[in-house]
Amino acid sequence: MGDIEKAAGVLRAGGLVAFPTETVYGLGANAEDPAAVTRIFQIKGRPPSHPLIVHLGGAEQLDDWVADVPAPARLLAERFWPGPLTLVLPRSSRVPLQATGGLETVAVRVPDHPVALALLSAFGGGVTAPSANRFGQVSPTTASHVRAEFGEDAGFVLDGGACRVGVESTIVDATGDVPSILRPGGVTREDLQEVLGHPLEVPAAARVRVPGQHPSHYAPRARVVLVDPEQVIVQAELAQEQGHRVGVLVPPSLAGAPVKAHAMVAVPGSMAAHARGLYGFLRELDQQGCDLVLACLPEERGLGLAIANRLRRAAGPRTTA
Ligand code: TXA
Ligand code: MG
Repeated sequence: MGDIEKAAGVLRAGGLVAFPTETVYGLGANAEDPAAVTRIFQIKGRPPSHPLIVHLGGAEQLDDWVADVPAPARLLAERFWPGPLTLVLPRSSRVPLQATGGLETVAVRVPDHPVALALLSAFGGGVTAPSANRFGQVSPTTASHVRAEFGEDAGFVLDGGACRVGVESTIVDATGDVPSILRPGGVTREDLQEVLGHPLEVPAAARVRVPGQHPSHYAPRARVVLVDPEQVIVQAELAQEQGHRVGVLVPPSLAGAPVKAHAMVAVPGSMAAHARGLYGFLRELDQQGCDLVLACLPEERGLGLAIANRLRRAAGPRTTA
């Protein structure tokens, strides 16, 4: 039996399967098995009010899982699935409340990854999957990140190599006639606007509040501090003098500049490469023993919107999560 068949069997038996998507690795359970869904929350250490995304094998399954599909939602699904777009819609009775954190809406998406699609097709049903990391931590973009995070608890891990997009899906509230962005991600605001034909509001990143979202999220162990590129060199020096083990995500504008720190990662100039590498860079600086990470926000257009959102949240206060 191949790994995909085995993984589908694990899901049918109520177990968990970690699997790759184009964005990040997910920790999946049969969406219709409340006990398996509950186990995801336990393993992640995630509050039960924090809703999950139901992954489907194809856009044609949408109507089985949601009660209503307004025209703009249909358009977005047709245009962007499979792909890094999640639509929030009214749930159908097929979706247990455990998966939605008690909400009457459900988040659904069709991932664009051959391993994820093979698993969904072999399994046949919907798979609820949050990112395969402990609550509030950096999302995994390789199978070894998942194993490092959960060990045996991850259940069955499907290895599909490194994720192509590297930041999570864009979440769009599509319940009404005018969709809005709840979380910027792999599909850009510009791409959504082009298809919808009108501008889309994005709440100021720091103020984004979707149910269950907390200010500190996507955070490495080290404290993350956002700085202006002109301040990087002096701030790194100051923090070192104060005894910190400083890690720096060196922005492209400082490539070749004499930055001094305990550890450094050069951020790629291309937004796509920046997004793809982001979580791995943060993990790398953690591994090098940094207790403080200095990072600069990219320009907030295209994938830069999602990158900036994750960096702001990584730098957010840690007390509530
Ligand atoms: O790219 C992704 O979206 C990855 C991969 C694995 O698909 N998944 C992911 O899941 O990022 P997770 O659980 O880490 O984040 C799901 C987000 C949560 O922040 C939650 O607040 C939001 O989706 N969400 C889920 N259901 C919702 C709903 N009914 N209304 C509003 N937000 C919802
Ligand atoms: Mg997550």
